[in-house]
Amino acid sequence: MDRKKNISMAVIKRIPKYYRYLKELAENDVDRISSNELSEKIGFTASQIRQDLNCFGDFGQQGYGYNVKELLAQISSILGLDKEYNTIIIGAGNIGQAIANYTYFQRMSFDLKAIFDINPKLIGLRIRDVSIEDIDNLESFIKNNEVDIAIICVPKERAQGVCDIITSSGIKAIWNFAPVDLKVPNDVIVENVHLSESLMTLSYLLNESKITE
Ligand code: NAI
Repeated sequence: MDRKKNISMAVIKRIPKYYRYLKELAENDVDRISSNELSEKIGFTASQIRQDLNCFGDFGQQGYGYNVKELLAQISSILGLDKEYNTIIIGAGNIGQAIANYTYFQRMSFDLKAIFDINPKLIGLRIRDVSIEDIDNLESFIKNNEVDIAIICVPKERAQGVCDIITSSGIKAIWNFAPVDLKVPNDVIVENVHLSESLMTLSYLLNESKITE
């Protein structure tokens, strides 16, 4: 596949939406779909879809549209979902437990290997089949196991400290739920998830729509 470098972040952020819709189409045994039909479902224009997918290679066929299974396989590969990732969660509170209990991530190829917490009452408990370990074991666990992604779910005052242990132990990808901008070495990727920012956008739009009524 002819993959082009320097694809814009805006395109990359749209790719998971293609994945979601194509997966649903494949599960419903839809064999092929035109960019116009895909446009109606996804809400992007047909030309946007063609442009986005062209960034990654020559997928569609004139007059035939896209082969759903093939496109899904290619998009999965673009997203790196054709591999397995070992993950750990640090902080087994509300958010940490919710993520650990969400089995869909497992099915998507993110395999939860361990959960760490500082609270003695939680250490030793299990969430699904994964045990909560003492935070003191975090460093040695990372060194002795292949961990690809660390998920930070500790209070914000603790997040940088946890992040430093994780990065100095060799982890290169962090999914950060703590509301803090983590300082990491250049070769470490951080993806922040802030539900509150999304909620604030919603409240802004709600108020804006009232003003323009
Ligand atoms: P919580 O208080 O229920 O859980 C935090 C857990 O971290 C506790 O079990 C605590 O024992 C543990 N912990 C504290 N220090 C630790 C350390 N040094 N090492 C290991 N474990 C440690 O809090 P909750 O509600 O789960 O929130 C967790 C984080 O997620 C907070 O930073 C919060 O602000 C953030 N949050 C983020 C959201 C988002 O959209 N990204 C939404 C809600 C919360």
